[in-house]
Amino acid sequence: MPQTNSEALAPTLNMLMNGEFRAAHIYFQAAAWCEDAKLAGSAQFFLTHASEEMMHMQKIYQYIVDADLSARFEALPEPKIEANSLVSLLQEIYQHEKLVSERFIKATKEADQAGDLSTFEFLQWFIVEQREEEMLFRGILDRAAVIGDGPHSLYYIDTEIAKIAAAAVAAASATPAGGGA
Ligand code: FEO
Repeated sequence: MPQTNSEALAPTLNMLMNGEFRAAHIYFQAAAWCEDAKLAGSAQFFLTHASEEMMHMQKIYQYIVDADLSARFEALPEPKIEANSLVSLLQEIYQHEKLVSERFIKATKEADQAGDLSTFEFLQWFIVEQREEEMLFRGILDRAAVIGDGPHSLYYIDTEIAKIAAAAVAAASATPAGGGA
């Protein structure tokens, strides 16, 4: 339960909560994009990741209501996937996660400047989480680069991503409190 008045940070917390909801929406659309491309492993990976984003959204929601603030959900924009290949989709997502990281870092600085130590402490979890997410997508892109552009490269990249999705599911079931990248 938060111990300080976080009212000044309420708009920022709501912005972050809606951002996580938008991220889940984007990942669901990315999963659908992969299904259309017959990339079942990648589709599963993005579905798993969408669930994680929903968990992140709920974590912020819970913090807001526990702090006796008002949670406000906004309309979600249509998630448009502009990518024309799996690698460019992954690059787009990686860039998106970097923007999300910047948002959390900015919010953490804001909490610090406002003397809101409760929110400052709460946001530390997301700072660590974002670092893991960036590492995850960078790692996938590195593997895709190593596999290269051969005749069966899409199959191998999709298989590698399927392994990552399976590991994420196993890790999540081993830690019921949630987390992971
Ligand atoms: Fe929860 Fe990927 O930001």
